[in-house]
Amino acid sequence: MALSAALIGGLLAIGPDHSSAAPNTVVTAPPMGWASWNAVAASVDEATIRREAAALVSSGLKGAGYQYVNIDEGWWQGTRDAGGNITVDSHDWPSGMQSVASYIHSLGLKAGIYTDAGKDGCGYYFPTSRPKAPGSGSEGHYDQDFLQFAKWGFDFVKVDWCGGDAENLDPKTAYTAVSESVSKAAAATGHPMVLSICNWGRQSPWAWAPGISTMWRTSDDLAVWNNGKLAPTMNDVLRTFDSAQHPDAQSPGHYNDPDMLVVGATGLSAEDSRTHMSLWAISGAPLLAGNDLTNMSPDIKAILTNPDVIAIDQDPLGKQGFLRYTDERNAGLQVYAKQLVNGTSAHREAVLLLNRTDADGDIDIPWLNIDTKGSAVVHDVWTGQDLGAYASHYRTTVPAHRALLLTVSVPNS
Ligand code: GAL
Repeated sequence: MALSAALIGGLLAIGPDHSSAAPNTVVTAPPMGWASWNAVAASVDEATIRREAAALVSSGLKGAGYQYVNIDEGWWQGTRDAGGNITVDSHDWPSGMQSVASYIHSLGLKAGIYTDAGKDGCGYYFPTSRPKAPGSGSEGHYDQDFLQFAKWGFDFVKVDWCGGDAENLDPKTAYTAVSESVSKAAAATGHPMVLSICNWGRQSPWAWAPGISTMWRTSDDLAVWNNGKLAPTMNDVLRTFDSAQHPDAQSPGHYNDPDMLVVGATGLSAEDSRTHMSLWAISGAPLLAGNDLTNMSPDIKAILTNPDVIAIDQDPLGKQGFLRYTDERNAGLQVYAKQLVNGTSAHREAVLLLNRTDADGDIDIPWLNIDTKGSAVVHDVWTGQDLGAYASHYRTTVPAHRALLLTVSVPNS
C-alpha cells in the first residue's frame, strides 16, 4: 500500500460513470445504523430485530445519528406463494415484515431488508445457522420483490451477489435492472429505498455503481462466520479499508463501502476498535454497527458515539479521505486526509496518521501535502485536545498499529 498520491491519481483517471441519473438517492450523508449479520449471522428473527432496534434508541446510538435497522441474510428461506410473492416463516416473524418495519418506524428509525441479485442467495451457497435456502434470491422477481419491500415500508435494501456470482451474471447489468426496479417501486408507492450494492468489488463497482446506488461494497467480507464465530483481525480491517480507496467515485449520496463495522467484536481490543472507527470516519464510509447493542461496554459505546468522529464521517462534502503522504523510508507510516466543510475556518482537513508497523514511528505531515496553506491549528479528535498552531507541518509519534485522528484548520484571517 505504498501507493503515492500521483499513482492513486493516475489510477483514478479512469473515473466513475456519473452520466446516468442517480434514481435511488434518498440520503446524502453516509448511512448510519445497525445490521444483523455481524451480530447473529443467519439467525435473524423478529425478536432479535425488535430487541436491537429498541437498544439502538436506549443505548444512545440513535441520538448519535444511527438510524437504520437492517435485516441481513436469513430472514427469508426462499419460499413464495402461487403468485410468486415472498412468504416468511410465521414462527420467526409472527407479526410479519410490515409490522416489523412499522415497529422500527415507531421508534423514529428506518428499516432495511436484504436479498440477492441471483436466483439462490448466500443462504443457499454458504448456509450458516439455517438450512440451505434454495430460491432465496430475487432474480426473475425484481419488480415484484422490490415493490413488496417498499409496500412493507422498508427504507433500505441490500442486494447481495452469491447467486449472481455463481450464475456468472454481469454485475453492472444485473444491478442496473435492480436499481430500475427499486425506482419503479418508489414511483408506485411513493416510498423510496436506499440501494446498497454488495458484489464485493467484482468488476469495479466504483466505476458504475455511483450512478445507480447509494453505496457499493468494494471487497470481500471483512470477516466471515466460522463455526459460529466471527473473529476479525486488524489485518482484515486494514484490508477492506485499503480496498475501498476509490475517492474519485465518492460524492454526497454515493459511497464506497468497506463493509459493516466490527467495532466491539471478539478479538479486537478497544484500541483496535478506535483505530477501525477512525479509518471508517476518514473514509466517509457508511457506519453500520454489527455488535449486540443490548450488551455493549461503555468503551465500545463511547467509540461508536463520539460526536466529533461521526461529524468527520458525515461531513456534508461527502469526500473520501485518501493517501497523501507515505514516509520515504518506511511505507508503513502514512497520512490520509479528508477535506471538510470550512465552518468558521478558512480551510479544514481531517487527517489520519496511520502506523501499520510493529514499532512506534514518527510521522510528519507537511501542510503542502494536505492542501493547507499557512499556519494551522491541530486538534486531536479522540482526546478533544488542542495541540497548538503550526506554521508548515506537524510531526508526532504514533504507536505501533495505531492511528491518530486530527483536524487541521486554517483560521479565518
Ligand atoms: C455476503 C455479504 C455479507 C453478508 C453475507 C450473508 O455475501 O458480503 O455482508 O450479507 O453475504 O450471507
